[in-house]
Amino acid sequence: MGKAIQDLRDEHASIHHVLSLMDRMLMDYMSQPSVKLRYYNELTTFYKVFADACHHGKEERYLFRYLASLKDPKIDVVLDELKDDHMQARRWVARMDDALFVEDLNEFARCAREYRDLLILHIEKEDRFFALIDGMMEDEVQRVIFSEFELHEEDVIGYGVHEELHKMIDQWGEIFNRE
Ligand SMILES: [Fe+2]
Ligand SMILES: [Fe+2]
Repeated sequence: MGKAIQDLRDEHASIHHVLSLMDRMLMDYMSQPSVKLRYYNELTTFYKVFADACHHGKEERYLFRYLASLKDPKIDVVLDELKDDHMQARRWVARMDDALFVEDLNEFARCAREYRDLLILHIEKEDRFFALIDGMMEDEVQRVIFSEFELHEEDVIGYGVHEELHKMIDQWGEIFNRE
């Protein structure tokens, strides 16, 4: 697997991990609302910064743009569908944000589950598509796109914030991954 595709697949695994931790958070009936609000705010930050700005940003700005330049109608159909999923994911995150603003935890949980279902299907779809296009992309093309990914990541997240996100995920794992 080429570098650029591998990077996106690794990020899919991180997003998947957070979605399963979120399932456990949503089933936490013990914590006070103020504690839940804190975790839900952190989750929403992760979705906005990592899943959307960083990950969807890499896909849309670099990989999808390259694939669109191939002018293959079959690829274009898939790209349209994937971009629609990203738009829908943004709408759910905006609704999660609105729910947090008015501290409506039930509405947050409802939108968060819709977002989770959408993203799980989206990631499955992309993993299958990426496995196909991986074989069509020259190593050099993947290398160039990967260096664009690195610059993009530095630009939208930066090292410090990346570390903070990892710390946050590790902390959720310690709290919510207990059997
Ligand atoms: Fe995507
Ligand atoms: Fe993706």
